[in-house]
Amino acid sequence: MNEKVFLTREIPDEGIKMLKRAELKVEIYEGDKLIPRRELLRRVKGKNVILSMLTEKIDKQVMNAAGPSLKMIANYAVGFDNIDLTAAKQRGIAVVNAACPEISESVAEHTIALLFALAHRIVEGDHFTRTGKYKGWEPKLLLGTDIIGKTLGIVGSGGIGTNVIRRMSDGFGVSILYHDVQHNTKLEKKFGAKFVTLPQLLKHSDFVSLHVPLLPATHHLISDTQFKLMKPMSFLINTARGPIIDSAALVRALKTKRLAGAALDVFENEPAFARRKEDANYLQHAWNVILTPHTASATIETRQAMSRIAAWNILAYISGKIPANLVR
Ligand code: GLV
Repeated sequence: MNEKVFLTREIPDEGIKMLKRAELKVEIYEGDKLIPRRELLRRVKGKNVILSMLTEKIDKQVMNAAGPSLKMIANYAVGFDNIDLTAAKQRGIAVVNAACPEISESVAEHTIALLFALAHRIVEGDHFTRTGKYKGWEPKLLLGTDIIGKTLGIVGSGGIGTNVIRRMSDGFGVSILYHDVQHNTKLEKKFGAKFVTLPQLLKHSDFVSLHVPLLPATHHLISDTQFKLMKPMSFLINTARGPIIDSAALVRALKTKRLAGAALDVFENEPAFARRKEDANYLQHAWNVILTPHTASATIETRQAMSRIAAWNILAYISGKIPANLVR
């Protein structure tokens, strides 16, 4: 096979080996940071496939720079909001993501880890202890919140949301509400999750976790109006996409104690923590906020699985089959 594949970043090796074994011409950007835009535009020229990261905007300009040889964009992520699907459609370019069971499990685990860390003030307690503040047991030191007996609200019941529901319904003693564009009777029957509207979910949940894709309809899905509906002293977790939460409204909710805390793996203006500098600064220093650097899927097993998925999809497409992860 003579197809030329350009990887915008080095990824775990299993998929790369598969592409090389199939004798594709694989070129990888050698830098260890985000590829500069100019370099990206130069390097995609004449390629048949771009294997892109979620950090790159793959728009008309990139597609035009690649030229008519470009047949496929394989995104090394579940989300694909960085790709202009309309421009891809106009040019007949296939787009695939890297969704796989492994990534849904890893992101669900990270979400649950954040939930427990928030409730039990793990990050704050770790810092308190290692900076020498711990002087002995105290009856009211760092009081957190139990999870048992509480209500967990899941917004979005795709692969990741479903895995959070499955695992949390299995022994942690929480009631589960969920909201989506449609009912999921399996979730209701198997895990006792109850379908509610978004306002109802926000009103009744002690923990709210977001698992919807970033679309025009989900941009700022959680803003001032929604924060006002939330239970006072509830917690919010976002491992989906940053702009689903209005970061200025989030900071207002934290400041006025509408929220007990938040855990964010994604931010409105990555790598900044918020749209506005003062809000980013607030989030950076608030002890009831946990920040992780978009690492919810960052396990060895998952990042290798995503590498294989990208390769399978590319190999399927160039041998005339329909790739399993086609999103366009
Ligand atoms: C990560 O955010 C992904 O979409 O895979």
